[in-house]
Amino acid sequence: MTAHELREKYLTFFRSHGHAEVSGKSLIPENDPTVLFTTAGMHPLVPYILGEAHPAGNRLANVQRCLRTGDIDEVGDESHLTFFEMLGNWSLGDYFKREAIEMSWEFLTSPDWLGIPAERISVTVFAGDEDVPVDEESASIWRAIGVPEDRIYYLPRSDNWWGPAGKTGPCGPDTEMFVDTGVPGTPESRPGVSDGKYLEIWNDVFMQYTKDEDGSFSSMERRCVDTGMGVERTVMILQGKRSVYETEIFRPLIASIEELAGVSYGSSEEVDKSIRIIADHIRTATFVLGDENPTVPSNVAQGYVLRRLIRRAMRHGRKLGLEGSFLSGPANVVIDTYGGFYSMLQESRVRIVEELEKEEERFIKTLRNGEREFEKLLPNLAKNPRREIPGRVAFRLYDTFGFPIEMTQEIAAEQGFTVDVAAFETAFAKHREKSKLDANQSFKGGLADQSTITTNLHTATHLMHQALRDVLGEHVQQKGSNITPDRLRFDFSHPEKMTPEQVQAVERIVNEKIGADLEISMETMSLEKAKASGALAFFGDRYDEIVKVYSIGDYSKEVCGGPHAGRTGALGTFRIVKEQSSSQGVRRIKAVLER
Ligand code: ALA
Repeated sequence: MTAHELREKYLTFFRSHGHAEVSGKSLIPENDPTVLFTTAGMHPLVPYILGEAHPAGNRLANVQRCLRTGDIDEVGDESHLTFFEMLGNWSLGDYFKREAIEMSWEFLTSPDWLGIPAERISVTVFAGDEDVPVDEESASIWRAIGVPEDRIYYLPRSDNWWGPAGKTGPCGPDTEMFVDTGVPGTPESRPGVSDGKYLEIWNDVFMQYTKDEDGSFSSMERRCVDTGMGVERTVMILQGKRSVYETEIFRPLIASIEELAGVSYGSSEEVDKSIRIIADHIRTATFVLGDENPTVPSNVAQGYVLRRLIRRAMRHGRKLGLEGSFLSGPANVVIDTYGGFYSMLQESRVRIVEELEKEEERFIKTLRNGEREFEKLLPNLAKNPRREIPGRVAFRLYDTFGFPIEMTQEIAAEQGFTVDVAAFETAFAKHREKSKLDANQSFKGGLADQSTITTNLHTATHLMHQALRDVLGEHVQQKGSNITPDRLRFDFSHPEKMTPEQVQAVERIVNEKIGADLEISMETMSLEKAKASGALAFFGDRYDEIVKVYSIGDYSKEVCGGPHAGRTGALGTFRIVKEQSSSQGVRRIKAVLER
């Protein structure tokens, strides 16, 4: 069965069980600044799970494009993917565990539908903990269906619990369906152990609790079901393959890479890994570039993820001997494979290819610059008797010139050097910790672009936020912030146009604080403590439990992801260039820093 047949069967099955088919949404969420990408089918449906009426009714089914970058570095093995399609069915306060499980079982095992032999399926249910009891209800439904006791596993919260999407909200136990792939296992093999023996293909989530502010769980009156079935994995099982990359979804794409590079998939573990990385990353990049909310490669947010995907694919291309730009061929294959179902890919074919080629050129230039930089370093390095490139030098090449460590190693080897990879990795891990913290907070007023100019504008934004509260009153709250290297843009609650005097007063205060060369300091603390200490924090429950608090002298204090300037003296002269209405009760300021 092909991926397309699977999608069609799924939707037909759920339509026959009273579900309305709803369209999958954009990969890039429009109204949810808490995530970069849609990571699950339930994502666009959160408002309806929270209680809003859905115009199509209480039973829905769809196919949703999803992107998860959490394990981007794992991609290259046989099963990890950054982009995948999720089939989902939902009950919004309609059916609950019994029907959901019975429908899942029928679809999986009935010869009219997928016809997977029942004896290959194992299931897991939530084992319970001190907060929530064991989900015996699901277990007994599986037993009644005929799943034998030894194929029903009770697993802890880390395996069998979903949600809430934010800090509070709907959540609940889930029951997951695994298929025995047929590979020889070990005595430790069981669902939840990823050794290739059991593959999870479907997850039924039972939203029956809400997590409250104080961390406790209370039962919800209107209970919902959210399920997710992975298309690529299920197709792999249905086609009897050992890897998602061997399915018909990936075959033409892999063939195009084999042909370009003149290598064969299956010839060596190293070649296969590079082919898989190129195939995965170009498929994902094509979907991001062709999205309804298209993104182009950049150094911020979604654009940065896209850039990493393209550049990592190129790097692995070089490993296979593909030195120049080569990604448009494989991208066209992705568009051919998916264009029938996702027409926007067909429609934006030209743009997708153009953007890919532009980014390839940029990276080729970056690599050239990095190589030059490397040459410059060589005479100094030659003095090192161990002929070893220190980790911090390798890291600087990576951080400043985007020069991948593997390239540094390659060139180093050509010159008879080794690289202190362990020290590089330590520097890299530190950097990653920091950027993770920043990325997690990047939509809470933080910045993904960390250039000096945007950082200075960010610090100016904090000064202005406080100055607005001083001049206009404490009702002023940040509603939005957007910074480009040219200007800051700040939305805040205030009912009327500011007078010219008020604008001047804000400018004067900010410039005074810049003139005073105040020091900026950062502390990490619990959100509760931050609020108690008077730090501004206006993003409802979008914060993590542990937050960073930035203080500018003793003038401003805000919960924020950073980064910020070290002292205000470096900022230049602050000037408001525009004050206008943004929406009902919200004003918008654009301001600049001048030298
Ligand atoms: N939201 C659930 C998942 O992604 C179905 O696994």
